[in-house]
Amino acid sequence: MLNENAVKLAPMNYDPQRPKAENPLKIEDLSLRDGHQSLFATRGRTEDMIPVAELMDEVGFWAMEVWGGATFDTMHRFLNEDPWQRLRTLKKYIRKTPFSMLLRGQNLVGYRNYADDVAKVFVERAAVNGVDVFRTFDALNDYRNFEIVVPAIKAAGKHFQGCICYSLTEPRMGGDVYTIDYYVGKAKELEAMGADSICIKDMAGLIAPYDAYQLVRALKQAVKPPIHLHSHFTSGMSPLSMLKAIEAGVDIIDTVLAPYAYRTSHAALEPFVMALLGTNRDTGFDIRLLARINDILEKEVMPKYRHLLDDTKMSIIDINVLLHQTPGGMLSNLVNQLKQMDALDRIDDVFRELPRVRKDLGQIPLVTPTSQIVGVQTVNNVLFDTPEERYRMITDQVKDLCYGLYGRTAAPINPEVQKKALKGYPRGETPITVRAASVLEPELEKAKEATRGIAKDIDDVLIYALYPVTGLRFLKWKYGLETPPEETRPITLEEVRRQEELVAKAKKGLLVEKPQKPAPAPGPNLRKFNVFVDGEAFEVGVDPLDAVFPIQTIRHMAAAPAPAPSPAPAVQPASASIPAPAPAPAPAAPAPKPAPAAAPAAEAEGAPLKAPMPGMVVRYLKQVGDAVQEGETVVVLEAMKMENALPAPKSGTVRSIAFNSGDSVKKGDVLALIG
Ligand code: CO
Repeated sequence: MLNENAVKLAPMNYDPQRPKAENPLKIEDLSLRDGHQSLFATRGRTEDMIPVAELMDEVGFWAMEVWGGATFDTMHRFLNEDPWQRLRTLKKYIRKTPFSMLLRGQNLVGYRNYADDVAKVFVERAAVNGVDVFRTFDALNDYRNFEIVVPAIKAAGKHFQGCICYSLTEPRMGGDVYTIDYYVGKAKELEAMGADSICIKDMAGLIAPYDAYQLVRALKQAVKPPIHLHSHFTSGMSPLSMLKAIEAGVDIIDTVLAPYAYRTSHAALEPFVMALLGTNRDTGFDIRLLARINDILEKEVMPKYRHLLDDTKMSIIDINVLLHQTPGGMLSNLVNQLKQMDALDRIDDVFRELPRVRKDLGQIPLVTPTSQIVGVQTVNNVLFDTPEERYRMITDQVKDLCYGLYGRTAAPINPEVQKKALKGYPRGETPITVRAASVLEPELEKAKEATRGIAKDIDDVLIYALYPVTGLRFLKWKYGLETPPEETRPITLEEVRRQEELVAKAKKGLLVEKPQKPAPAPGPNLRKFNVFVDGEAFEVGVDPLDAVFPIQTIRHMAAAPAPAPSPAPAVQPASASIPAPAPAPAPAAPAPKPAPAAAPAAEAEGAPLKAPMPGMVVRYLKQVGDAVQEGETVVVLEAMKMENALPAPKSGTVRSIAFNSGDSVKKGDVLALIG
């Protein structure tokens, strides 16, 4: 805790040799993981971390978070980078400072619980490749999901940091779920599991300064391990909350370097170094060293990422977080998803529906993956529900959650929603109460089998085990079996400069807009003329489009029968490509049954199964020629990282399949025809 007498080291200086504080505040730096994850959609590349790596190693951080969270996914999916290689590369430059990773408990670095064999080996390999501190959380705060990874962390001799996801159901701490007693109880559970430190993980930036103070005091009194505070700036409160937490005796806080700070990211480090200078919590950091690092980042790194920053708003604070308690990442996902569906005008409906869905699903904290699960289901409800029926399109992940595959929810799940979700659920209609992953079959051997001939080591196998579709694609890129697409290539500083020059010219009005319509190819009637202007000659071509043909052209056309001019647009049969809608009710007296013979012509090819949203085809469960019942799953479509089982629109036979696993599809694309 700060005390008045502590401010006594005058005259203040920035000298790193200044007298050491009594109880220096420890700092974990998040720039190279959560920093770019929050600001730049995790697109930070290893090559852009190297210019500052050695200098950052000199700062004196308690740890640097460099891995985990979304990095594993983004690197192999979008950056064509081997996630394991990043750890090994950075370790060459950062030798003193421990590396921290964000581990999603049994979800590892993915979005579902993996089997125990995969979880154990993943932790072992992360430790071998360079992770020292395993910041471990479970989205439901169900620590049974730590039972496999924690012994593996301990066996590797590494630091187990247990997280409590900070959540609210009301504007401030309290209410009937997330109370002080709840958090103290969770901290005691973590202590009993052997936590080397305990982290309050405030992923949405919801923690208010006086709640932070109260919570840190309570935890410091209740448990022995050091207390660590992780918060996001999103709401604007986090620097205030951090300062109150410091006063309450928090041991470690998370910050980022200034260029990575604020917005949905974190509090900047530099103001803390200055604010605590000469106090009993002085960090001891050299502010001039930080300035040097920031200078390099600003000049050599940030220009390559600025285009990823959401700069559509002046404000760097997101007021919606305070109003709706929607974490920053989740909010941008929701907005993107609505945009893709041309339904951005429904955002207010989404905000209204979100707390209802969350309540139905057991008041779970909103953090990966639960934020996606709740968010995507909310959007589905807003777009597909009818006044008569809620939860018309339930994602597979919500079904899994209702079954208990993510663990125990903070409050009970709405039994009606649970029943509807589990109707016909392949694992059974009765939810489980045991540790979630204990019902999963081992997965590692299957992954080895599936990657035989491609994977060269266990790290390759794990990339596939975690992400079968994109992981396999990455392994093909890695070993030259497929060419990585152009968009995986890094942008260079030269390209950025060229773009900046163009923007500067455009702002001065020196650029002319390129015509959108490409010039048509010259036709057979093209005639060339010289046009003389002020003694200069310009050659111009004239290509008549109407019937007044030059003589030789007419002759030419007479010799060989001309292709008929484009026919007058005859009335196309209405059903040619437009899928027939559900049979309309007969206008006259209703027939007892719609006669099948009356089906429109399109039905001959089959009823289309269309993508209800843009996404990626995960797999087809049916092949061409298979018989299907109406409502049976034909294809699984991943949208916003959630899998949606798409049912057959009618009973029949699969006539055709239009895509392959891994293909991206647009809303409305026909995925299969059922005839
Ligand atoms: Co975070």
